[in-house]
Amino acid sequence: MTNRQVVLKRAPAAMPKASDFEVVAAPMPEGPPADGLLVRVIALSMDPYLGGRLRGRHMGEPAPAPGGTLPGFSVSEVLESASPSFKPGDYVVTETGWAHYAAVPAAGARKVTAGGVPISAHLGVLGMPGLTAWAGVTQLAKVKEGDVFVVDAAAGAVGGTAGQIARNLGARTIGIAGGAEKGALVTGTYRFDASVDYKQEGWQAQLKTLTAPGPTVHFENVGDSVLQAVFPMLQTYGRVVLCGLAEHYHTEGKPPALLVGPIVGKRAAIYGLVVYDFYDRLHEWVALATPWIAEKKLVVHEDVAEGLDNAPAHFERMLKGQHLGKAIVRVGPDRA
Ligand SMILES: NC(=O)c1ccc[n+]([C@@H]2O[C@H](COP(=O)([O-])OP(=O)(O)OC[C@H]3O[C@@H](n4cnc5c(N)ncnc54)[C@H](OP(=O)(O)O)[C@@H]3O)[C@@H](O)[C@H]2O)c1
Repeated sequence: MTNRQVVLKRAPAAMPKASDFEVVAAPMPEGPPADGLLVRVIALSMDPYLGGRLRGRHMGEPAPAPGGTLPGFSVSEVLESASPSFKPGDYVVTETGWAHYAAVPAAGARKVTAGGVPISAHLGVLGMPGLTAWAGVTQLAKVKEGDVFVVDAAAGAVGGTAGQIARNLGARTIGIAGGAEKGALVTGTYRFDASVDYKQEGWQAQLKTLTAPGPTVHFENVGDSVLQAVFPMLQTYGRVVLCGLAEHYHTEGKPPALLVGPIVGKRAAIYGLVVYDFYDRLHEWVALATPWIAEKKLVVHEDVAEGLDNAPAHFERMLKGQHLGKAIVRVGPDRA
């Protein structure tokens, strides 16, 4: 067996591009570390936070040095185990980095099963992005029957899942997404009540009409350009979940700021969301989501690139928001 990895060629000075990376031959790990696992990567997760992490802009983590393997989570198959908790053939979500094979500590690995969904769904709807959506909708905003729920980046893994959860809880759901293809995914596949294309002139007036008498909950994934438009439409006592700021991750200058006066005027509640706070409750989300998936009340939509060689280009596409649904790179066969 031979191993290959994607490494950072140089430290990206702006939004990372495919040309910042290269795919290289790498030594095969000799075996599992003490109490660890030797794994074969099946699918890699492409996430917006990784763009910031490569530039030292994510949760205080240092930027990886050029020459190192790109960090990131995957679904992998256990080939050899030095841990009593895992055996060969198990499937795990763990931080392998971008490679065909990796030796990883067992402590950070989570066992998963296919159960009627692609195994890669554990990187999307049944993984970190789905948990983020569940936490924001059910634990922070506490969405209930009768809410008017707005979310942007609504075609993405977090936004699409958040809207589907809110709809299943009885809210009227309106998604904001860029372009007709994303809009079709939001209403056709995710079955939101409506979607608005913010790349079209007059989208704010359209949103106001669709959400009348105003959103009770807004789930923010993008940043200032959407938040400043939606906030004035909120009903009194509206709730806002601040989840992501995708449009600001690679810009310079001051981060966006909400004016405190309008927050008081609206008696609004603003919730900052960090998914790490909810990792120990992932089982609660998976228990809720699994029957919803079986009943088609929750849809998994993936944008898959084939092969490790295509990971850099797919990553660049994802960072530019050109993907549909959850961006995944299939690295090896799924024998689940
Ligand atoms: N707080 C947490 O713990 C947590 C956890 C996971 C994810 N997040 C955040 O949640 C958000 C959604 O995550 P996701 O994984 O589902 O990603 P995603 O929605 O698939 O991708 C981000 C989307 O942001 C929109 N966008 C608008 N302006 C952009 C710009 N200038 N550059 C890039 N994208 C832009 C694009 O959608 P349109 O074309 O439709 O605008 C893009 O597809 C991200 O901001 C992510 O960082 C936060």
